Formats: sequence, C-alpha cells, structure tokens
Amino acid sequence: VETLDVALRPWPRPQCRIRVGSGALESLVAEFAVSHADRRLALVTDANVLPLHAARLAELLAPVVRHVEVIAIPAGEASKTRESKAAIEDRLLAAAIGRRDLLLAVGGGMVGDLAGFVAATWHRGIEWVQVPTTLLAMVDASLGGKTAVNLAEAKNLVGCFHHPTAVFADVETLRTLPEREYLAGFAEVVKAAAIADREFFEQLEVDGEGLVRREATLLERTIVRSMRIKLDIVEQDAQELGRRAALNFGHTVAHAVELQPRRAQSSPSRWNHGEAVAFGMSVEGALAHSVHGFPADELRRLQALLRRFGLPTVAPRELDPLDIVAAARTDKKNRGGRIHFALPLRIGAMPAGDDVTLPLDEALLLQALQRAAGVD
Ligand SMILES: NC(=O)c1ccc[n+]([C@@H]2O[C@H](COP(=O)([O-])OP(=O)(O)OC[C@H]3O[C@@H](n4cnc5c(N)ncnc54)[C@H](O)[C@@H]3O)[C@@H](O)[C@H]2O)c1
Repeated sequence: VETLDVALRPWPRPQCRIRVGSGALESLVAEFAVSHADRRLALVTDANVLPLHAARLAELLAPVVRHVEVIAIPAGEASKTRESKAAIEDRLLAAAIGRRDLLLAVGGGMVGDLAGFVAATWHRGIEWVQVPTTLLAMVDASLGGKTAVNLAEAKNLVGCFHHPTAVFADVETLRTLPEREYLAGFAEVVKAAAIADREFFEQLEVDGEGLVRREATLLERTIVRSMRIKLDIVEQDAQELGRRAALNFGHTVAHAVELQPRRAQSSPSRWNHGEAVAFGMSVEGALAHSVHGFPADELRRLQALLRRFGLPTVAPRELDPLDIVAAARTDKKNRGGRIHFALPLRIGAMPAGDDVTLPLDEALLLQALQRAAGVD
C-alpha cells in the first residue's frame, strides 16, 4: 500500500460585493449590462416574489444580457427540498445554462438557500448573485455562503458553502413584505447588536419607531450595520469552527421551539423563525444573567427592544418547558452530552477566545424556561 500525502491549494478566497439601498436593483441592471452582457441568466424566485419584484427585474435584464430564464417555485419553506433542486436543474438544462453562465436568486432566505445550493453543484459550481427581498435574508441569510435544502427529518441537512459573488439588497423591496415577516427580521438585527455592538443597540432603541414604519434611510443604515457584524464574524471563522457560534445567541432555544409540533404553538399560527429567536434570546438572556452576571437591567432593555418590534419574549402556555429541554438535547452545538449555549457577557460583548459556547446544566435551562412561560 502506498500513501500519497498531497497539500492541495486552498480554494480561492471568495470575493463578494454587497450593495445596499434604494435603487440597488437599478445598480444591478447597470452592472450586469457591463459585466455579464454575454452570459445567460437563470433567475430563480418564488411565486410571491415573482409578480412583486422578480418579473420587473427580469424585464429590465432581458435587453442587457444574452438570455433570462425565469424559474419560479412555490413560496414557503416546503419548497426547500431535493425535489425542488432537481426541478430547477431540469430547467437549467432545458435553458442551456452553462458553466460560464450565472444564477440570480431573487427572494427570501428560502430562495437564497435553495438556489445557492443549485448554483454550488451545477457544473460543479457556477457563479451566483443574490437579491434578498426579506429583512431576514438581507441581514442574515444572504451573508456567509451557507446553502442547503431540508429533509423531512431535519432542516438544512444537505448543503454546502458557496458564496455569491454579489448581493444586491434594495430596501424598496421590503415595502411589500407582510408586517409579521418584516418584523421577524429585527430578531436577527437585535441579536447582531446584542452580541457585538452596544452603540448599535442603543441606536436601535432610538430608531425603533421609524424602523417599524419602514423609513428607508433608517433601514439602510440598520441593514448595513447588521451586515457588518455578521460579515466580521464570518470572516474570522468562515467554516463555522468556533467564533461563528456567537451568531447562535437565542438560537439553541429557538431551534428547540421550532422542533415542537404545530399544535403546541400559539395561535393564530406557529411562530416564524424571527419570533422563535426573539423568545430564545429572552430565555438565553436570563441564562446569561445567571451564569455570566449579564446585568438585569440590560436583560429588561433587550426584552423591551424585542417587544418594540412586536416580537415575543414570553412563551405561550401550550409550550411545555420539558419538551423544549428535550429538543435542545439535539442541538448541533452540543458536545459530551451537554447542551451548549452562546451567551453574551453584557449587551455588545461575547466571551473572548475561539470557543464562545458554554455547557450548562439542563436544570438552569428548565428554570429559565419556566420563568419565561410564567409557570414558575
Ligand atoms: N444561509 C443562511 O445563513 C441562513 C440564515 C438564516 C436563515 N436561513 C434560511 O432562510 C429561510 C427563511 O428566510 P425568510 O424568512 O426570508 O423566508 P422566505 O424566503 O420563505 O420568505 C418569507 C415569505 O415572504 C415572502 N416574500 C419574500 N420577499 C417578499 C417581498 N419583498 N414582499 C412580499 N413577500 C415576500 C416569501 O414568498 C415567503 O412567503 C429559511 O429557510 C432559513 O433556513 C438561511
């Protein structure tokens, strides 16, 4: 048996250009006219975003590139599957989208994750560009290069890292977003401030009302600042080996809540991801208070800011804290049979070092959940 040890050259460092603001879509068209005039384009979107934004973008792009193939899939998380990936690939084949062509994802995080994964494996990886049209996708899902589809058993189980070469976030597209979807995005905005930037947190306390009213200049400033925080953390830990876990503040509890069966969740319908993250930060903030001495008044400010964005900080009675603890045992951050949390020391500060997660006794989590559910 012979052994060949080969030190392969690292994959080229991904470059990504991000444009944020009113008119970002017009910039996209202008830039494509210059850089992509000779390429075919697959524009992947969902059925909600198609008539609102994607059809107009396709119309503007048609005269400036060689061909635009519009591929619209049904809206909703149920479309983020291997079957949808295969259906999109069939359309790429029929439209002769080649190795040098381009995929454009126009929509929320669902479209971005799915289309990005298609781009990652089509011809072993083609270039793709993202146009996020939800607040959550702008501040979170469009950054960091994670792509995936869900299996029935687990979310995001099949996927890979494949960075888009550009992200165009046009705040005008947020005007058509339903109120609840819009406000959900602020859970990730507040999280970014809570883990990394105290001054940003204080600015959000001032800007809350204007942001709820979707004021464009405030939104633009807020999105850019949130993006910077995520990009900074991702740059330090591109493969999610350590520090990137800071982005998981609130998410251990949120994921456990999301695993609960539908009937156990509050009316009128189950919490969306942002709502679950808001509740998660409220509970994990209480944990941070018990273990790190996260100041009590800062916990109250965190909860007040979340509520200003219409986000929940207490659990509905139907959620059983014991079920949440059981679900948290399956969290991907866990090691050695213990539940791990990424908890801030105070607003804007995470523990130093590469390993920002902390194993905690389940009894502490149960206590924090019982308080949050008001059944102490
Ligand atoms: N890759 C990552 O790092 C990452 C990070 C966070 C979340 N995600 C993924 O993102 C997804 C959630 O993203 P999401 O909340 O954007 O969900 P989504 O893409 O399902 O969009 C939510 C809803 O809003 C509609 N919509 C989108 N833009 C609209 C607009 N401008 N006007 C009106 N309606 C619009 C969509 O059709 C959908 O019904 C999940 O699949 C999650 O796993 C990925």
